[in-house]
Amino acid sequence: MEIIKNVKGTHDIFAEENDAYDYVESLMKSISELYAFNGVRPPVLEYNSVFVRGVGESSDIVRKEMYTFPDKGGRDLTLRPEFTAGIMRLVVQNKLYATSELPIKLYYCGPVFRYERPQLGRYRQFNQFGVESIGNNAPMNDVEVIVLAYTILSSLGLEGVTLKINTLGDESSRDNYRNALKKYFSSHIGNMCEDCKSRFELNPLRILDCKVPEDRPIIDHAPKIGDYISIESKQRFDTILEALEVLQIPYEIDEGLVRGLDYYSETVFEFHYKSKKGADYGAIGAGGHYGKLMQELGGPELPGVGFSFGIERIVSVLKDDELLEDIKKKVDVYIMPLGEEANLYAQEIAVILRNGGGYKTDICFDKTKLGNMFKRATNKNAKFAVIVGEEEINTDSVIIKDLAKQEQITVSIDELVNKLDELMDEGDEE
Ligand code: HAM
Repeated sequence: MEIIKNVKGTHDIFAEENDAYDYVESLMKSISELYAFNGVRPPVLEYNSVFVRGVGESSDIVRKEMYTFPDKGGRDLTLRPEFTAGIMRLVVQNKLYATSELPIKLYYCGPVFRYERPQLGRYRQFNQFGVESIGNNAPMNDVEVIVLAYTILSSLGLEGVTLKINTLGDESSRDNYRNALKKYFSSHIGNMCEDCKSRFELNPLRILDCKVPEDRPIIDHAPKIGDYISIESKQRFDTILEALEVLQIPYEIDEGLVRGLDYYSETVFEFHYKSKKGADYGAIGAGGHYGKLMQELGGPELPGVGFSFGIERIVSVLKDDELLEDIKKKVDVYIMPLGEEANLYAQEIAVILRNGGGYKTDICFDKTKLGNMFKRATNKNAKFAVIVGEEEINTDSVIIKDLAKQEQITVSIDELVNKLDELMDEGDEE
């Protein structure tokens, strides 16, 4: 029978790759905890309107990329294409703004779905880790999330990450800019792609995201947002840039950066990194400030700022740059029972090692030669082998073999954990 394959644009994560995802996600979580963010888990399924209203009708995500379908009860549901709008729905519905200190600081991690053309670094189901800081408009909140994102990337060992940053200004700045774009593009739009024609009607700002090469020269000559920013927004942006300089976070102002989601206002940013092999997986993370998203979802007028990382892209650059070599999962002890009757004894020893000693322990249950068992211990990166046979059963003892030093001793099971503790300490000191 023909085998069934995974869905186009999805991928299986297993073995060392799964270890890499665990490592990256837990590092992101623990650093976010240091910045006093708390975990949150919104559902994968939301009503379609969360994203139509939240991410915006003119965004490519809503126009072309959402997995939307009616359920058996006729509800219009969407597999989340991003987290921010769903997090805001959660905050509004559960009135977190009324019961928590502001800003509410949340982090999240999980799969998101976008119907995009699969290519390098681009999947239809991928994983994001991100944070949102909601309810306080001080520019220092923007600074805090940028510093957090940058710290995470540095802690993963990525050096030379480019932080591209820009300001979209407040609502009046964007209205003025939109009008200027409308005027500029009105004389060119007839020669531009079909997508741009509908973007022109819905939101001319989105034309700036167009990737069609023939359209690029026209777009490159379009007015720049910097000329339409209000004095207040300019001051806000300058405060942020000054703080980044003091905190030694290098940045590049990119006046063309407008981001593809409609909820952004004021600060927007992206993190770019080319792996040492030269592979460019696209932005490895991105985010920004949003002023009106909570209101769009029926809540009070509270702003927020956040970012999301693309875990697939980050794991790819870490792999390319050989920054995952040290995370190989190791077994502390590999137990080798010699003969059928030693299997039960091995189980008893494993209970002592796991529950009493806290040692990560595996047992070889296959009837195989001792040499093969040592090969398996090496494959599992085990530090010690514990060998048990008839002699050990009769004397309530075990043989411990240090696999690096190739030295072995016999100890009674009462002394086993203490002796292993000692040997582990010796190994750590060397
Ligand atoms: P985004 O730029 O759409 O922003 O996505 C964030 C990150 O997800 C990207 O920088 C990229 O690393 C990754 N990503 C996006 N699409 C794909 C894909 N098809 N395959 C693999 N990785 C992908 C957001 O989602 C906003 N919610 C970020 C944010 C949070 N803004 C404020 N708070």
